[in-house]
Amino acid sequence: MSSQEAQLFPHGPDNMAPLESILTEDKNKFKTCNQIGLYRRQKLLPPGQSPYCAELESLSVDKDKATLQIINQDTKVPLRLQIIAFDNTFRLKINEISPLKPKYEVADVLVKEPSAERISVSQIESDFVILENTKGPYKLHITAKPFSISVTAQDKLLLSLNSQGFLYFESLLSPPKSSFYLFHKDSHGLWNETFGDFVDIKANGPASVGLDVSLHGFEYVYGLPEHADVHRLQNTGDSEAYRLYNLDVFAYKIHDKMGTYGSVPLLLAHKVLHTCGIFWLNASETLVEINTRATLQAAPKTRKQRAFPQIDVRWISESGIVDMFLLLGPRPQDVFRQYAHLTGYQAFPPKFSLGYHQCRWNYEDEADVEAVDSGFDEHQIPYDVIWLDIEHTDKKKYFTWDNERFPNPIRMQEELQKKRRKLVVISDPHIKVDPDYILYSEAKDRGYFVKDRNGQDFEGSCWPGTSSYLDFTNPAVRDWYSAQFVLDKYKGSTEVLFIWNDMNEPSVFEAPEMTMPKSAVHYKGWEHRDLHNLYGFYQQMSTYEGLIQRSHGLERPFVLTRSFFAGSQRHGAVWTGDNKAEWEYLKISVPMLLTLSVTGISFCGADVGGFVGDPDPELLIRWYQAGAFQPFFRAHSIQDSKRREPWLFGANSTALIKRAIEERYTLLPFWYLLFYRAHVYAEPVMRPLWVEFPKNPEIFGEEKQYMLGNALLVVPVLEPGVSELDVLFPGSGERWYEFRKHECIMGSLRQKVNIALDEIPVYQRGGSIIPMHTRTGKSTGWMDDFPYELCVALDSKGSAEGELFLDDGHSFEYLQKNMFSYRRLVYQRHILTCRSADTKGKYQSQSIVEKVKLMGVKKQPMEVIVHSTGNKVSVVFTYNHRLSLLSLESLSLCVSADWEIHVKTK
Ligand code: GLC
Repeated sequence: MSSQEAQLFPHGPDNMAPLESILTEDKNKFKTCNQIGLYRRQKLLPPGQSPYCAELESLSVDKDKATLQIINQDTKVPLRLQIIAFDNTFRLKINEISPLKPKYEVADVLVKEPSAERISVSQIESDFVILENTKGPYKLHITAKPFSISVTAQDKLLLSLNSQGFLYFESLLSPPKSSFYLFHKDSHGLWNETFGDFVDIKANGPASVGLDVSLHGFEYVYGLPEHADVHRLQNTGDSEAYRLYNLDVFAYKIHDKMGTYGSVPLLLAHKVLHTCGIFWLNASETLVEINTRATLQAAPKTRKQRAFPQIDVRWISESGIVDMFLLLGPRPQDVFRQYAHLTGYQAFPPKFSLGYHQCRWNYEDEADVEAVDSGFDEHQIPYDVIWLDIEHTDKKKYFTWDNERFPNPIRMQEELQKKRRKLVVISDPHIKVDPDYILYSEAKDRGYFVKDRNGQDFEGSCWPGTSSYLDFTNPAVRDWYSAQFVLDKYKGSTEVLFIWNDMNEPSVFEAPEMTMPKSAVHYKGWEHRDLHNLYGFYQQMSTYEGLIQRSHGLERPFVLTRSFFAGSQRHGAVWTGDNKAEWEYLKISVPMLLTLSVTGISFCGADVGGFVGDPDPELLIRWYQAGAFQPFFRAHSIQDSKRREPWLFGANSTALIKRAIEERYTLLPFWYLLFYRAHVYAEPVMRPLWVEFPKNPEIFGEEKQYMLGNALLVVPVLEPGVSELDVLFPGSGERWYEFRKHECIMGSLRQKVNIALDEIPVYQRGGSIIPMHTRTGKSTGWMDDFPYELCVALDSKGSAEGELFLDDGHSFEYLQKNMFSYRRLVYQRHILTCRSADTKGKYQSQSIVEKVKLMGVKKQPMEVIVHSTGNKVSVVFTYNHRLSLLSLESLSLCVSADWEIHVKTK
């Protein structure tokens, strides 16, 4: 064993491949598009010559569903198209009418089957039919020959399907009689496919599907995580398509379209007056091509020819059916809601998980945990959670402890609990093959592992050596796994222990592309290829349920996952995996998180500091400053990296890191509100500028700076040695206020600002009110009753509004017993009012509003009077002329009560 191996596998690898082959950045381990049979096959299809025709006489429209037969003129195989409509959304399903055997349809991702609205035929001719959803402005025009569908809004063309002729549906064939065909070199990858030394034998042969969608008038498309790439999706042209195939890509390459850890097959298209989403519900390997072009069209009035932009999107999947949702907006917020209505809303995180997380592979033992924990106290840096990686277990057997390093895990957790802090431990989906390991033997006896294609338990290698993989697609396995988290079952755990699911693509060393062979077999006989992208989704779902059961349904879980799919937002947080301690990785974290955020996954973050390698102090400081303004805020580093606790880089660096973390903690009330709104209204917490300024095309491509909610503009410093930055102030007629010094910025779109190492630029939007705490504590748990400060930034009309959400911060009582207090804050006509935003709320907070800062108050007030509980009291204030800043201190206004502050100017 090399010294690095010895470090990584102190217990000795058991059948483990050389470590270098696992922790390498070797791109050749992964396929390019041309090495993928289904892609090569579909690329043979000539454009514009679709063999499919719609048989309009077969159209049947019952109240809420239209059904139509379409037929491939070459093969004569008939397909059934089903259309339903709801909430400005159309769902189109295409499947074979009489398949040899059923094809996989994704279950459990949709929260429920959408309830369809009335659909009717508005016109029918021999060669086309027009369907309309009686509630919405959208119509579907179905053309018979060749088959295509256009979607119009107020008679303007918005989208068209199969207008490129790439509808593709491989109907299942009987396997070839002779096994010769199975092993014979198969250049189209029909029944077998070779990649390096690996051969994929396909039990069902070719089964791929595909469809094109053209977006008319659109130039900007986003979405399709996860790729280490820019936010705006790029033309794929003749280069690689965006690949959605969940893979463990150590130290992934930047600006690459290969698949990484998770997939959300949701694409968003945006133009000035319209935002749409296309959700392709398919969990098999998927490739997406994007081609931007302009067509010449006559302008409506002048009839002059002008270039009209168009984006052609082509979806290609290895198996399953065509199940496509057209989310027709029309505003960005409508698309977010339409998508959340289908796949679920962001889980409301327990408040502690919005604090700062300290992680490392690995904190070695209980003494190490104690030392790191006290380090935070010594340096008076707030933090909430310390994390334990794989070495905390007995030989990588999850749900166990290494008794030498962690002889008393309960005591360790009790110590953390005294300081109102938590522990997160890792729990991967691979289970060490060891008959003496109860989890293994029980799962084996019950038949709970994924099988290989010969019906034996699949065995692959991962951290513990030879392992089998739980089949989380089976509900019984999920229930059984969930039950492992119950406190008396999970020895050494307490209610302050939470979970991290890693390696759940799943990662299988020495396997094709380091993941499970596609021929492996799951519950009900489905091949792994059918549902590959769902594996991590199901593990996190089961862990989430486990933590709910552990608290008898009372406490909100926290589960971090590396692999994910559409809907994973319902179960917790996602991070972007094994990045590097390099500036480029800090920079790419912003667009990567923006992309996750607009595809439903608000609770996302990147390893602060960079996982692989050692950051220099400047990079580390900048990363903390950026991370403090990203939703999931965790520092993490690989085992052979130098130790990086915040106080190890000299007094100056410690002070700056501390300042960044403290800023996160003072803004907790704002973060909490944003997560509540993500949970209830599907608003992304971290937002690209196009979401907040949808009518300003000049910012549609911006991705270095972004908004938190609708109120804070964040400009992270993403390069070394920066002393000046070009900041973009979006919107027309907007006012922006420098967040810490309250200077008002008006005027040009771009302005140069001076940058020092002590902080990143942050601006508050005029018209918003941001709730903050006046000070920080050891952890979020100490801050519940801390006083509040309201930052009121007036717009050009002298108004502002904001909200505040309060509950106990950890339970489901806000939902089950209305134990919440949702406050609405409005400043209008010189009066700040605090009222209930939801009168059902019964939660009474002890906290007070102690300070109010009003930015943009034009004149010095004569008097400021507080009206509360029937009393009127004049209060002391200070006014800064230069800044137009009115400050009120030493107030004592209950946050849960109604009150007003009158600013008298004459
Ligand atoms: C993977 C994870 C990383 C973790 C390591 C050991 O590389 O991405 O975060 O520390 O495995 O568990």
